[in-house]
Amino acid sequence: MFDTLFDQKYLQDPHAVYARLRAEEPVHRTATPHGVQMWVVSRYEDVRAAMTDPRLSKDFTNNPGVIKANTLPGGDSSGYEATVPHNMLFVDEPDHGRLRRLVTKAFTAKRVTALRPRIEEISAALLDQAGSEFDLMHDYAVPLPAMVIGELLGVPEDHWPQLIKWSNTTIEGGALDPEEVVKAATDFTDYLAELCEERRAEPKDDLFSALVQVQDEQGSLSQRELVDTAFLLVVAGHETTVHLICNGMLALLRHPDQLAKLREDESLLPGAIEELLRYDGPISTSTLRFTKEPVVIGGTEIPAGQLVLVSLLAANRDEERFGADSLDITRSAAQHVAFGHGIHYCLGAPLARTEGVIAFRHLLERYPKLEVTVPEAELAWRPGLLMHGLTRLPVRG
Ligand code: HEM
Repeated sequence: MFDTLFDQKYLQDPHAVYARLRAEEPVHRTATPHGVQMWVVSRYEDVRAAMTDPRLSKDFTNNPGVIKANTLPGGDSSGYEATVPHNMLFVDEPDHGRLRRLVTKAFTAKRVTALRPRIEEISAALLDQAGSEFDLMHDYAVPLPAMVIGELLGVPEDHWPQLIKWSNTTIEGGALDPEEVVKAATDFTDYLAELCEERRAEPKDDLFSALVQVQDEQGSLSQRELVDTAFLLVVAGHETTVHLICNGMLALLRHPDQLAKLREDESLLPGAIEELLRYDGPISTSTLRFTKEPVVIGGTEIPAGQLVLVSLLAANRDEERFGADSLDITRSAAQHVAFGHGIHYCLGAPLARTEGVIAFRHLLERYPKLEVTVPEAELAWRPGLLMHGLTRLPVRG
């Protein structure tokens, strides 16, 4: 019945599809267009339980055959396999803790607070350049987090356009031509390996240099893990915040009463960001997990060795947890799962929240009459089950 997770209708309104799944088939078996079979979990309590259940593993590094084993005859799993790198997001403990600790220091609340003036500066400069009629996505929401994470990591600014292309293709994995995905992932990691070598030869005051130094001094990071950690930080650091800004602004423009409330009282902003993350967050489903043994989720038994996706978008609209389906910026939304849950909870959440607050404040202050300049039907959404984001958002203000 629900073989619709990959069509245009789903992309235009995933919430309608997930509402039906939550009600009728909360643990749903599906297959990607390239024949990779998986289970999709959609209720809030089941999603939270699945994300902390040790019988659900993310360790594809040490179990490389799992994805292929779930691929239908004639199917092609190489697109997915190419996007499962050796970093903290795709391992269990103890490897996870070892890899996560190496970068935790860069994302402490203190470090992020220190970055705030620079984020303000970058945001203001982008809006000065954008003028009064612009594409909120490409002229602002894409470059802002890319420039911030780029500075933190030490990626030269003129390399970003290429990196963004590789990154977009890599993470749209399951929906695109596998050959294209494999090529993008390979070019991307080759580039990062080269950049790390440059930093080894000539260290700078950036996170890549710090990671290379840890690798050299402590030997606690293999070459593959070094490059794949760099890959994760580049992708996670810029792909997501883009859609917090654009999905969030679109949601506010579609709910003028909520926008007016926020304009009247800017102190509501941090809470509003949480509600926007809940209501229409940037990530549709988390990255893949697999069952190490049979697991019962929401009354459905999933056999051992099968792939499981938890839908963050679906969980965040679960009426059982959040009540009637509406946008309410004064709601207490902090329990949303837009940043995940459990040991893989987003490492960059403090940075994303800081960027979000600055971005919305600047947009509200500079554009008292912001509006979308194309009809709703012309707003297109990115393909794939991972990201939930627009392809552009033309506005005038
Ligand atoms: C609004 C913006 C963001 C959202 C919604 C978001 C969401 C998420 C989610 C849902 C996960 C867990 C995925 C899973 O369990 O499969 C995650 C993990 C992660 N995120 Fe974010 N993220 C955002 C911004 C960032 C930023 C700016 C960074 C900075 C580099 C970042 C770095 C990471 C890292 C390193 C992990 C892996 C953590 C681990 O495996 O322990 N994220 N993020």
